[in-house]
Amino acid sequence: MIEQLEQLFEDAKSKLTTLKSTADLEAWFRDTLGRKGQLTALMRQVGSLSKEEKPVFGKRANEVKQTLQSSFDARQTEVKMAQLEAEMASDALDITLPGRRSRKGGLHPITRTLREIYRIWGDMGFQVYQSREVETDEYNFEMLNIPEHHPARDMWDTFHTTSPGMLLRTHTSPGQIHAMREYHPEPIRVILPGTVYRYEQITSRSECQFNQVEGLAIGHNISLADLKGTLSDFARRMFGADRNVRFRANYFPFTEPSAEMDVECILCDGDGCQLCKHTGWLEILGSGMVHPNVMRNGGYDPSEYSGFAFGMGVERICMLNYGICDIRNFWSNDLRFLQQF
Ligand code: PHE
Repeated sequence: MIEQLEQLFEDAKSKLTTLKSTADLEAWFRDTLGRKGQLTALMRQVGSLSKEEKPVFGKRANEVKQTLQSSFDARQTEVKMAQLEAEMASDALDITLPGRRSRKGGLHPITRTLREIYRIWGDMGFQVYQSREVETDEYNFEMLNIPEHHPARDMWDTFHTTSPGMLLRTHTSPGQIHAMREYHPEPIRVILPGTVYRYEQITSRSECQFNQVEGLAIGHNISLADLKGTLSDFARRMFGADRNVRFRANYFPFTEPSAEMDVECILCDGDGCQLCKHTGWLEILGSGMVHPNVMRNGGYDPSEYSGFAFGMGVERICMLNYGICDIRNFWSNDLRFLQQF
């Protein structure tokens, strides 16, 4: 039996060195060292041996078992390593490839322009006053001296809601009334930025939604000279000290007198081109002295107070500053456009 044991030892050892997969190793273990394996079976037969043979066989059998177990462990580690190396070689990870760059976001050009406008007016002592986008007919028109059936309503066609008298504001001017009613009787210096809506055909020059920044100054002895001086100063800070501005008389129901302000065309420097329709000038805002009726609607006595107001188009200013030729770009969500800023 001891010969059988030695034979089994030799066979098992040499077989072990030829095994190359974990499945083969498992089978080998089952057949050799497992509960139903050959060595276990042989060791069970120890009872049939003589008294002298038993300890000799037992000792040797245990040695064999231990040796085979540690050879098995060693072989198993070797096979696993070989498998891992083979896997790594076939599924190579090229660590020299550059990583994926994370995309940097940026501010929308309108946001940039708005912030620039806030900064300039902030430096001049004007506070930002937020006003609602869904307005009543009363605030959007009537309080601004535009009664029902007034022809000036044609200039501001808008989107109406299903609630009677509720509409999307056509301009930021209704904010003037809100601000006056809140501030009265204090003097006022505010700008009112925000989106406005118009029922209009969308072209390269006009959109049905866009941004305005309204301005309102109310106090004692505020004159047309203050309006001109303040708006010219704004233009100098916004477009550069060497860019000329001009005021053109105009009509708005809520200001008297009224004027529009133009800046010298940024494309042709006043020589005349397609952008400025060969006038050399680009209109950027409407303005005027607050109408006495509007003043009264806001709670201020026009014999005691006076003030000026203006409303500028943010998209227009942004287009001038960046040389953007189509207003539709702002809402188109085209990354090729947006990533330039
Ligand atoms: N609300 C006018 C517009 O949308 C602009 C304006 C504002 C004119 C304030 C005068 C005073 O065209």
